[in-house]
Amino acid sequence: MSSANDFRPGLEGVIAVETEIAEPDREGGSLRYRGIDIEELVGHYPYEDVWGLLVDDDLSSKMPDPEPYEPAQLTGNAPADLQAETARLGGVWKLGKLHEISEEQARQDLGRLSAQMMSIVARSARLADGKEDTVPDDVVAKGKTAAEKFLLRWRGEADPRHVKAIDTYWICTAEHGLNASTFTARVVASTGADAGAALSAAVGALSGPLHGGAPAYVKPMLEVVARTGDPEGWVSEKLARHERIMGFGHRVYRAEDPRSRILKRTAKELGSPQFEIAEELERVALAALHEAYPNRVLATNVEYYSAVVLDVAQIPPPLAPAMFACSRVAGWSAHILEQKRILPRGLFRPSARYVGPGERHLAETN
Ligand code: COA
Repeated sequence: MSSANDFRPGLEGVIAVETEIAEPDREGGSLRYRGIDIEELVGHYPYEDVWGLLVDDDLSSKMPDPEPYEPAQLTGNAPADLQAETARLGGVWKLGKLHEISEEQARQDLGRLSAQMMSIVARSARLADGKEDTVPDDVVAKGKTAAEKFLLRWRGEADPRHVKAIDTYWICTAEHGLNASTFTARVVASTGADAGAALSAAVGALSGPLHGGAPAYVKPMLEVVARTGDPEGWVSEKLARHERIMGFGHRVYRAEDPRSRILKRTAKELGSPQFEIAEELERVALAALHEAYPNRVLATNVEYYSAVVLDVAQIPPPLAPAMFACSRVAGWSAHILEQKRILPRGLFRPSARYVGPGERHLAETN
């Protein structure tokens, strides 16, 4: 029987699924995809191979290239375009419901969708740049990796430093256990809906600043601090107003976030012009957070140096959530497939504790 003590806001710590895909090692500060440390993947395998590792447990089973597809009406707001178009693909491609199709079919749908989602983001970003045309397919086809093709589709050119920044960022953020967007994807998949519905719902969950949107806030923050040259003053004002410093703190890690470590190293290697100020603000923020919350571990999270690495690739801050969605298509796809395997069991149905008014009658409320 449940009791008031069972109430766990946000379901924190509640084990709702079993997964073989990945789980952050919260005390050890490492992240492994199907048992392989991401340190062994970054720089050795391109993102599309890591997609295969996560989805099929096979580095040679890569994400396919996107097939020809004409989005209905892109707006240039990439997260909104991505969410709408991904849901629409379910209708255009007549995707079958997950509880009715085979595992092979679901895997194929997820591959097509993942590839197309990247293409939609690239095309939406091109539109946001004021370019109404599309880059010819033969130009895009010259790209060797998914990251290079993404940039070619967006800008018609792909600087190798930008390719490395995006590939590293995508691999580091491809999967991270049962976070809000992955949970959303699994909840929708657990109803037997099609893969497009599950992926588009996940995009919506990712677009908020407490999950995937933080890098969009980090760059302006670094710019303000660089302008004033007073990180101490900026941090203490922020904490005095009881506001959150974006890029610090994490629901899972109680040690250094390994992704932050890799992204920091990459930002330095790629000669980010923001690296120095970012490192300085990080030092000041960590000290102030430690003083303000001595009993909590508030360390640098993935979003902080993600913002710096994405800046190397000249990604505008509003595009950050959609870039995150591009990387997460791997983790989401793997989880949707895992959830499909346990259908029709596993439908999510947590409970709510009612704390509203007791029984009353309309006459009493007037
Ligand atoms: N800056 C300032 N204070 C912070 C903080 C931050 N980045 N992160 C947590 N805190 C403070 C909260 O204000 C709260 O203080 P209070 O008890 O005085 O109200 C306390 O720490 C606990 O906050 P809580 O939200 O319960 O901690 P959490 O560990 O569950 O939160 C996050 C995790 C990620 C939601 C939180 O750290 C945050 O909002 N970070 C900034 C946004 C961000 O970087 N998001 C990307 C995550 S990958």
